[in-house]
Amino acid sequence: MNADQTVEVLRAAGEPTRLRVLSLLAGEELSVMELSRILEQSQPRVSRHLKLMADAGLIERFPDGARVFYRLSSDPLARRLIDTVLDLLDASEGEADDRRLEEVRREREAAAGAYFERVAPQWDRMRSLYVCESAVEAAILEAAGEGPFERVVDLGTGSGRMLTLLGGKARMSIGLDLSQNMLNLARANVTRAGLEKVELRHGDIFSTRLPKQSADLVLVHQVLHYLADPATAVAEASRLVASGGRLIIVDFAPHKLEQLREEHQHRRLGFADDEVKHWLAEAGLQPSAPIVLPPDVEGLTVSIWTADRPAVAEANAA
Ligand SMILES: C[S@@+](CC[C@H](N)C(=O)[O-])C[C@H]1O[C@@H](n2cnc3c(N)ncnc32)[C@H](O)[C@@H]1O
Repeated sequence: MNADQTVEVLRAAGEPTRLRVLSLLAGEELSVMELSRILEQSQPRVSRHLKLMADAGLIERFPDGARVFYRLSSDPLARRLIDTVLDLLDASEGEADDRRLEEVRREREAAAGAYFERVAPQWDRMRSLYVCESAVEAAILEAAGEGPFERVVDLGTGSGRMLTLLGGKARMSIGLDLSQNMLNLARANVTRAGLEKVELRHGDIFSTRLPKQSADLVLVHQVLHYLADPATAVAEASRLVASGGRLIIVDFAPHKLEQLREEHQHRRLGFADDEVKHWLAEAGLQPSAPIVLPPDVEGLTVSIWTADRPAVAEANAA
């Protein structure tokens, strides 16, 4: 950064509300609506601050359907500057904001959690409402490869469909989910499928507590669009991928079905290839070109992103 750019960036950060925004976005990406609520300022006012900071390269703006979200810049120099500035702030400065952020988060998680507990019994039918399930599953099987797999981990397993789809190729599998109702269904489904070596765990995709590089196949099927911080979930999923192993993420390509937010608790209306590939590469995996399935009647397109952790060469290899 030259001197002029540094001054511009410092100016953009040098205002109390803008420092608060930086501190909040260091925690997670947020919509204008959420920021305005946490900062207790009107949306137009918050938008003005955000525009200035985005123009200076401190934060990134990304529209998602009719909403606009913001996150910290991914530029390493800008990040260094932001970290330095935030380090200087007294921890007590942001306490009220953190409390309101926590409130927003709790409400969001409670709404999503209640939704999954409620829809669990119908989930297997609902999954196929939007897309052609058999085509998606055939593509997932192909993307996973032949196997056999030592350990398959399915994050946000829901009713366990990925476990039953791939379980036959796995020596053991783990399905993790936040919803107990979903886990109960998954238990019934894997038993019905005759799969024995399957563990179903209550847990959070953001901190799975599973050992690093412990699975040769990790799946995140139709989960990312519910999450407040999909980048962190991708990092955690990637952390689990063993040397020579593979991560498969299945989700929607960007779409315009706003009603899915209200009716089905979607937070993000799909993901662009570049965004997901960037997260995968940041997490140290090698992404392949995504598989994009043909859109359904509503215009929803399913994308399958795969990424590998290169095999570590044997120490004594010739
Ligand atoms: C749309 S369902 C998909 C389930 C399954 N992967 C499938 O495709 O059938 C999303 C699942 O993610 C789970 N989920 C949402 N947030 C989660 C989190 N933070 N950690 C773990 N699971 C989560 C929900 O409980 C739900 O079962």
